Amino acid sequence: MPTWIFAIFSFLAIIATAHADGIAEKATLCASCHGENGVPVDPKVPVIWGQNAGYLYIELRDFKRGARASEMMAPMVADMSRDDMMALAEYFSKQPWPNLGQKPASAAIAERAETVANSAQCSQCHLAGFLGASSVPRVSDQSFDYLLATLEAFRSGTRANNAWMTDLMKAYSDDDIKALAAYLAGL
Ligand code: HEC
Ligand code: HEC
Repeated sequence: MPTWIFAIFSFLAIIATAHADGIAEKATLCASCHGENGVPVDPKVPVIWGQNAGYLYIELRDFKRGARASEMMAPMVADMSRDDMMALAEYFSKQPWPNLGQKPASAAIAERAETVANSAQCSQCHLAGFLGASSVPRVSDQSFDYLLATLEAFRSGTRANNAWMTDLMKAYSDDDIKALAAYLAGL
């Protein structure tokens, strides 16, 4: 290989490594809440390891715009560039989804949740196994406390960045929403 080609490759490799290091470094800040190994430090904090990249990016953007309110996330993204949001979304989407050790819902709870899920056609968007894709989030095996809080927040309008999810949740009772959260957490 001519040396000048080798020189270009080495240069590109150095840039790529520096960029990757930069993102890994920025991601360490996130670990203080979202967990060193992907298990959040508090069950009210969502899993972001292994979450779909498009969805992660949209949430970071919405926290910055204020479309999704969060006292904890707003300062994280206040000065974050779009490129960093995209790089962080990509970075976290490539980490393995952690094992939270949550138990499957009881048969009675699962039946109630499946009735709601069928009537609302959740799988049309969240797909098989509730794994989502692209800008639709994975919701299976997400933390129970977080799922319950966020579904309730959609219903009350405290989480106002998706009108569809808000309209959908308004049709359901507290017990339905609790059943959905327990069912999804245990998948
Ligand atoms: C101080 C704790 C804390 C830190 C640090 C933190 N987060 Fe969060 N994050 C949260 C909480 C709490 C939520 C849930 C907010 C809500 O729904 O009210 C959240 C939500 C999110 C969500 C939305 C996930 C979903 O399922 O909707 C993303 C994406 C996210 N954080 C990414 C990050 C990234 C990237 C960093 C590092 C730059 C970071 N967070 C740092 C506490 C934190
Ligand atoms: C028309 C498509 C669609 C349908 C049907 C739908 N969802 Fe969603 N759901 C979405 C999208 C898109 C988001 C992400 C919204 C955003 O950008 O914050 C979402 C967000 C969520 C979240 C929040 C995830 C997180 O990490 O914060 C949960 C939980 C959820 N959906 C559960 C359900 C359940 C349960 C059903 C059925 C009862 C359902 N969804 C039906 C499209 C849909």
